[in-house]
Amino acid sequence: MSNSQYLVIGATGKTGKRVISKLRAAHKTVKAASRSGSVIFDWNDKSNWPDVLRNVKAMYVTYFPDLAIPGAPDDIRALCELARQQNVGHITLLSGRGESEALACERIVTSSGMSWTVVRASWFMQNFTEGLFAQFLMDGSVALPVGDVKEPFVDIDDIADIAFDSLINDKHKNKLYEVTGPDLLSFSDVVEAFNQAFQRKGAFHQISLPLFSENLTRIGVDEGAIAILHYLFTEVLDGRNANLADGVQQALGRPPTSFKTFLQKNRHVFD
Ligand SMILES: NC(=O)c1ccc[n+]([C@@H]2O[C@H](COP(=O)([O-])OP(=O)(O)OC[C@H]3O[C@@H](n4cnc5c(N)ncnc54)[C@H](OP(=O)(O)O)[C@@H]3O)[C@@H](O)[C@H]2O)c1
Repeated sequence: MSNSQYLVIGATGKTGKRVISKLRAAHKTVKAASRSGSVIFDWNDKSNWPDVLRNVKAMYVTYFPDLAIPGAPDDIRALCELARQQNVGHITLLSGRGESEALACERIVTSSGMSWTVVRASWFMQNFTEGLFAQFLMDGSVALPVGDVKEPFVDIDDIADIAFDSLINDKHKNKLYEVTGPDLLSFSDVVEAFNQAFQRKGAFHQISLPLFSENLTRIGVDEGAIAILHYLFTEVLDGRNANLADGVQQALGRPPTSFKTFLQKNRHVFD
């Protein structure tokens, strides 16, 4: 019997849950995998990975917390090797733009022997609606250790559209899509756009890295997540990503979603 199911690793995450909805709407059989998913999967416990990968035709992989952490290449290699043994045909990897460490993981995927798609994404717009920064916006004070550097935030509905299509459509085989939104925005620009869209009076403040850590610890963010945020704010947000890429247009034949449209779509979050 040939493999017939679709596997999503990071099933409860921002992009994973969207890809699952699309697969289910297309009447595909889905294994929704994460520590609390309907299929249990833990990056820190490989004991059931062969079961998770059994009877899988194609998989969408989101790594947690970030492909830049030291153990990520070993985990991605182990996953790909087991996937090959189980005759998984295709892997789509969500990667991070401007993260040199993530390149090692991308290379493992692209030389895995499976067909592949890499979606190399800029910062998500949804960090402001579903992630850590949502609460900062709601509270009216976004205090981050960053200045005027600009980032082309991407709407993860665009990422999910690409990831879904890559699992079911051969045209995305062995393609790398670098995806960004169409607007280069500083964090201060983001707060300004939010204020304009929702008639708010939020403020942006640049703060020191130690104060940022202190604030995060106070609201219960764990040390591992703080370390990743330090890495992102000090290394990745140094201007290297302050340029647009056309991965959404290439993959979907339409422009990426703008920040303005994203805010309008998410009006309900802030009402
Ligand atoms: N956020 C961004 O702006 C951005 C930009 C570019 C790339 N990325 C990449 O996107 C990926 C996802 O990041 P995210 O912050 O947006 O998270 P997310 O996908 O919203 O959520 C994390 C997912 O990982 C699962 N998870 C957490 N710990 C796990 C573990 N030990 N084993 C298995 N599953 C685990 C969680 O489910 P359970 O709790 O049920 O396990 C959840 O499904 C990361 O690789 C990140 O580098 C993010």
